[in-house]
Amino acid sequence: MAQVVTNLVMNSLMHAYQPEESGEMHFQVLQQADQVIIQYRDHGCGIPEEHLSRIFEPFFTTARHRGGTGLGLHIVYNLVTQKLGGRINVQSEVGKGTLFIVTLPLEPQVTS
Ligand SMILES: Nc1ncnc2c1ncn2[C@@H]1O[C@H](COP(=O)(O)OP(=O)(O)OP(=O)(O)O)[C@@H](O)[C@H]1O
Ligand SMILES: [Mg+2]
Repeated sequence: MAQVVTNLVMNSLMHAYQPEESGEMHFQVLQQADQVIIQYRDHGCGIPEEHLSRIFEPFFTTARHRGGTGLGLHIVYNLVTQKLGGRINVQSEVGKGTLFIVTLPLEPQVTS
């Protein structure tokens, strides 16, 4: 979870907001029956629709010139879906921001 949170927050800092721009990042954590739902949002630049289906792919990055490898969200996706047995979805609108929704079983079958 620390890696998941770190990657999401670092992405908002690196991609969503301009340097010196102030902004907000929100985590909301809810329990619904036997699931934990973590919603993380920023109100930054958003992700264009043509990129949205690719952001979890390994090596997809729009910031290679700034040292991005495109592995952050791929690692997040694998941790959530494989290690933690959950799902991750993204919604975004250019100019409005980005919302990641992570749904996890309350008692994950943690694998090594
Ligand atoms: N919060 C966000 N706001 C806007 N764009 C984002 C956001 N998070 C991710 N992206 C987009 O998704 C792409 C993939 O993100 P990912 O974390 O996988 O790679 P990266 O941040 O570019 O590089 P790395 O995490 O490996 O250093 C980013 O290059 C960026 O275009
Ligand atoms: Mg990243």
